[in-house]
Amino acid sequence: MMIAVYRWFENWVYPFREPAGLRPPVSVRGFLWHYVGQAKVAFFAMLVIGGIAPLVEAGLFYFVGRLVDILDQLPGERSWDALWTAAGPELVFMAAVVLVLRTIVVGLAALVDEQTITPGFYNLVRWQAHRHVSRQSYDFFQNDFAGRIATKVWQAGQATGDLMQSFIEVVWFMVVYTVTTLVLVAGLDLRLAVLVVIWITAFGWLARRYLPAIRKHAEQTAEAGSMITGRIVDSYSNVQTLKLFSADGDDRYIRSGFDIYLDALRPFTRRLTGVRMALTTLSGIMITAIACFAVYLWVEGSITVGAVAFTLSLVLRLNMLLGRLMMQLNGILRNLGVLENSKALISQPLGLTDAPDAKELVVTGGRIDVKNVEFHYGKGFGVLNGIDLVVRPGEKVGLVGPSGAGKTTLANLILRLYDLEAGKINIDGQDVSKVTQNSLRANIGVVSQDT
Ligand SMILES: Nc1ncnc2c1ncn2[C@@H]1O[C@H](COP(=O)(O)OP(=O)(O)OP(=O)(O)O)[C@@H](O)[C@H]1O
Ligand SMILES: [Mg+2]
Repeated sequence: MMIAVYRWFENWVYPFREPAGLRPPVSVRGFLWHYVGQAKVAFFAMLVIGGIAPLVEAGLFYFVGRLVDILDQLPGERSWDALWTAAGPELVFMAAVVLVLRTIVVGLAALVDEQTITPGFYNLVRWQAHRHVSRQSYDFFQNDFAGRIATKVWQAGQATGDLMQSFIEVVWFMVVYTVTTLVLVAGLDLRLAVLVVIWITAFGWLARRYLPAIRKHAEQTAEAGSMITGRIVDSYSNVQTLKLFSADGDDRYIRSGFDIYLDALRPFTRRLTGVRMALTTLSGIMITAIACFAVYLWVEGSITVGAVAFTLSLVLRLNMLLGRLMMQLNGILRNLGVLENSKALISQPLGLTDAPDAKELVVTGGRIDVKNVEFHYGKGFGVLNGIDLVVRPGEKVGLVGPSGAGKTTLANLILRLYDLEAGKINIDGQDVSKVTQNSLRANIGVVSQDT
């Protein structure tokens, strides 16, 4: 039975779907919506359940206060019978909320979080980001570290999913937790509510003061993190060269990568400790103030013992929740930073695309015409200057030249791994830039130096 339920939630968001456009927009909001829009019903469900859960939790704290009052004001001797006569239905209702409603709501929330969003949505973002990035030009990969690109693609899924989860939790926190706490406390004494408002305002001030820097730190740390991953992956992939020539030299290179990463990480984690200390100081002051005031109200005789217990439990809950809120806000900004870092790479337009009316290459004889080709790797000079070459069908031609002469470059241009800077390359009279890349490469056999 549970297996079927798990499977249903797991199949809700299919990670390998193909949207109309694979390239996400450049703006943060556009980028988020590009992916979130593909799972909007699941996120909507998360939003709804996310609202009910804190309401039920707030109810539990209310029940504590009620139970204390019911026991305290029980007429006659202490017995289950007297208790049942005084408040039987209410107690049954409380038990039902705790046993049934709460279990269902928390269970649903967990299913959407753990079965739908985490496996489905996170990997939808990663898969689609990969699908777009993998179609980037040869040049795109030549100019970056593979490990760095991979880290950014992978992190995009995590950051987008976590961001949405934190965002929904924060929205509900603001609405449900703050409002219920205020309403419940104000019901006892307005002055208690004022203290709570002061607390929340001070919290907001602290959040505004500390959080924007976290986004910046997170972006820098993400960049440094993908850089170090890039260096490590690069050194492992070139392990033969390293073993032959410069194992120690490369470890110095990796070590300096760690230093750069730590230089980005340390100010970030200092900032996090600062936020935690500031928050703890604030909550310490506020808990003490509210506790003193509640006792004062009890001394005055204006609230019951149950109300003091209830107020204190609400205050402790508020304290816990504000801590969690700060963690979530922190998470949002952290993930925004990571997302911006990934987005800059993932949302880049394809550097080399098929012409709009590209046809399949049809090879009849295999004649290659290279006409007046210029190619300088964008540097304006060098490599290939005005190259002409004709290879007739059936002919075997060897290109001979010193290392760095441009032999591989010319072969890559025939494969259209780069676009020419000037000139033309035809295969059986068809311009290589006008046929589909897939048909071109499918028709050319290549054995590279490395294989
Ligand atoms: N991605 C690149 N970006 C910029 N310059 C490059 C790039 N790839 C190669 N070059 C430069 O272009 C020139 C030609 O390189 P190419 O690899 O085509 O030479 P080659 O003739 O195949 O040499 P080898 O015999 O060593 O294989 C070299 O100076 C090289 O440094
Ligand atoms: Mg070569």
